[in-house]
Amino acid sequence: MAIQDLKPEPENTSRRDLFATAGWAVLSASIAGVCGAFVRFLSSNTVPEALSVSLIGRPDEYPVGSATFLEEHRVYLLRDARGFRALSAVCTHLGCTVVKDAARHGFRCPCHGSRFNEQGEPVVGPARRALAWHPVALSRDGRLQIDRGRAIGAGHYLALDRR
Ligand code: FES
Repeated sequence: MAIQDLKPEPENTSRRDLFATAGWAVLSASIAGVCGAFVRFLSSNTVPEALSVSLIGRPDEYPVGSATFLEEHRVYLLRDARGFRALSAVCTHLGCTVVKDAARHGFRCPCHGSRFNEQGEPVVGPARRALAWHPVALSRDGRLQIDRGRAIGAGHYLALDRR
């Protein structure tokens, strides 16, 4: 009589199995999610060197005195009598895209009002760091290329030979 009372009812066993299976499924999915996030955390978040270099056309496409916003690259390509330079359009405060401010001969950030002079130096906060300069070079086939993966000191121009 006592043995008969201890036997689980088939319906309860089935429900218990279902809950156990669901619990294991949820636990497995959680572990997989945590492992995936950890792997993403450990992997590099930088753009590989080769992908950071962009060909942007021939020098004669950019007249002296031009300031061209390359939206795809978030870079301003500027050309003056000294040559070409590439100035990052990424605001050093929180990363908004700065716009050319022709009236003030510089750049302004529409997000929080930072202003930068023509050289990219901050003149009004909250941004405190200068906009990055990226190297501009000529490719072997005579096209301009910008390396957005590298920052260089302000004042570096690509001067073209004018023979
Ligand atoms: S992101 Fe440019 S001022 Fe805040």
